[in-house]
Formats: sequence, structure tokens, C-alpha cells
Amino acid sequence: MEKIIRWGIVGAGNIANKFAEAMNHVSGAELVAVASRSEETGKAFAEKHHIGKLFVGYEEMAKSDMIDAVYIATPHPFHKPCAELFLNAKKHVLCEKPVCVNEKQAVALLTCAEENGVFLMEAMWTRFLPAIHEAVRVANSGEIGEIRSVSADFCYSSTPQEEAKIFDNAMAGGSLLDVGVYGLNFAAIVLGEHPESMVAVSDVADGVDCQTNVLLKYANGTTAHISSAINVQKPATGYIYGTKGYIEVPDFFGAQELIVHKGTEENRIRKPSIGEGFEEEIIESCQCIRAGKTQSDSMPMAESIRIMKQMDDIRKMIHLTYPFDA
Ligand SMILES: NC(=O)c1ccc[n+]([C@@H]2O[C@H](COP(=O)([O-])OP(=O)(O)OC[C@H]3O[C@@H](n4cnc5c(N)ncnc54)[C@H](OP(=O)(O)O)[C@@H]3O)[C@@H](O)[C@H]2O)c1
Repeated sequence: MEKIIRWGIVGAGNIANKFAEAMNHVSGAELVAVASRSEETGKAFAEKHHIGKLFVGYEEMAKSDMIDAVYIATPHPFHKPCAELFLNAKKHVLCEKPVCVNEKQAVALLTCAEENGVFLMEAMWTRFLPAIHEAVRVANSGEIGEIRSVSADFCYSSTPQEEAKIFDNAMAGGSLLDVGVYGLNFAAIVLGEHPESMVAVSDVADGVDCQTNVLLKYANGTTAHISSAINVQKPATGYIYGTKGYIEVPDFFGAQELIVHKGTEENRIRKPSIGEGFEEEIIESCQCIRAGKTQSDSMPMAESIRIMKQMDDIRKMIHLTYPFDA
């Protein structure tokens, strides 16, 4: 019988709800605890998701031996301190995206995981979706010819009143780290290697990038165009362009289907995820933990570090710094 991995959630906020719901559809894993800074928030979350144990304070959960692994769902600047707290307590860590706020922090996290001999992965759920795997399979099959380019837009429109942290430099706000990271991952999934060159333009206002456009060029001549925004509405579509056609991936970050275009032909392929899309990354984490692996082959820390470095380089180009960069 497979070992049950006992999970705890760190931070009872918005996205933690999606993780808690996904746990209902994953066998071999149990959501046993939640840790919140606030008793009131934590209690309401635990009751809503029928979680048996509430820890008030993250340190309390780190000390406990009732969990094997944690899902970190705090805002970006707290990913590193939270991950370190649990890694040093020998707990396996699945950490929300972006894994932290710069390359230096990401390298430090990997070192911490290695020193403690525990699993660490960025929760880049897009990487584990069946529709994304199918898009890559079709792209690699030659069906749309030779792959020459990729584009991905993840742009939404919000306000500081609706989402304060996204408009706050001290919270590593802005579109690039919040949603641009998905586009960069999409380009990396399809085109693989580190780009040879990049250019970026952005509208930076009040210490955050409101919209950012990045062009990437790879050594083999392929290119990518990634856009992100917090004040623009666009369809969140990913495209893979070949010499004989293209693949369209609607809502690419949480893809459920793809459409293969060749001339006037259109082939829609449905590849839904198990639930809302977090199940696959949880299953991957559990399988790695059970196998004694400290990294996922599909989302290794080296890849998270590579993409953090790209975001550091883009931020240099658009003159966007955060307090944690020093
Ligand atoms: N994968 C996805 O699709 C997806 C979607 C949305 C967000 N995310 C990522 O998930 C992370 C959390 O986003 P969210 O929208 O869930 O945030 P949120 O609603 O603000 O929740 C974050 C939680 O973190 C805890 N926290 C710890 N220190 C905090 C501090 N100083 N200020 C505020 N909260 C603090 C709080 O929980 P307690 O008070 O209970 O301790 C808070 O409720 C972000 O890094 C984001 O990029 C991922």
C-alpha cells in the first residue's frame, strides 16, 4: 500500500482554498493541518475544508511531527522565509509561484533543501496539465512543421483597492512575478533552453510593472513573445507556431484543451485536468516524496532558478527593483 503523505497548508488565504479542494481528489495524500497567523482566519479555513488541526503560527506547524509536507501559500516575499522554516524542520515543500522574488533567493532555497535532504518544488501547476503535455506532444510530432515561435499573454485588470499586494513594491508586486512567470514557463516548456537574448518594455508606475512585454530569442533562431499585465484585459492564450500551422492553447496557464490549426483546418483536442488543475502537481509531489526524490524531473529547482534569473534580467531592463534585491 502506498504511503500516505500528510500535508499542511501555510497561510489560509485565497489560493490555499484551491489547494485544499484539490486534496479531495488526490489519493495517497491527506490534508491534516493548516497554519495561520490568525486564530480566527485559520479556524474559519479549517472548518470550511474540514481540516482536523489548526496551528496558530507557522513555527508551531514546523515543529510538529504530524505533517510530512507543506504547501506554501503566502505572498511572494514570504515564500523564502516560510520555505526555509519548513525545509530546516525536514518537511517537504511545495511552494507557490513565483518560488521567491529573485535568483539569489532561489539558489539559497535549493541549497537549504539539499542540506536538509527534503523535496522542494515550485507549484507551477501549468507544467503538469494534460493539455500542456498534449500541446508539447503535438508540437514535437512535426504535425505543425518545425517549431519557430511561441507567444503567451497573461493579462488581467485590477486595482489597488481590489488587490493591494499586486500594486505594492514591498510585496514584490507587479505583473511579471505574478503572471509573467507563467508565460516564461510556457516558453521554457516548449522551447527549452535559456534564451540567447531578451528585450523588455514595461509601464512601471508606483514601483510595480503594470504591463510588461518581453521578446526572447534562442540560439537555434526560435523566438518568444510574453506579455503580462495587471491593468489590461487580454485573452490568456498561449500559441506555438510552426512552419505548417500553429497550436492555440486557451487559458494556457490552466489549460484544458488545445486547438491545432493547419490552413483552414481546426482540430480541437480536449484534455481536461483531474479537477481544477492543482491535483496533478500534488500527485507529482507525492510521487517524488514517496520515491525519496528531492526534485521533480518536470519542474526541477534548476528550472525555477533559470526563470527567476530571466525575471531578474527583465527587471533590470525595465528598472524595477524590490527591497529584497540587495
Ligand atoms: N497557482 C495559482 O494559480 C495562484 C493563484 C493565485 C495566487 N498564487 C500565489 O499564491 C501566493 C498567495 O497568493 P494569494 O492570492 O492566495 O494571497 P492572499 O489571499 O493574500 O493570502 C496569502 C496568505 O498568506 C499569509 N501571510 C503571511 N504573511 C503575510 C503578510 N505579511 N501579509 C499578508 N499575508 C500574509 C496570510 O495567511 P494567514 O493570515 O492565514 O497566515 C494570507 O492570507 C502568491 O505568491 C501568489 O503568486 C498562485
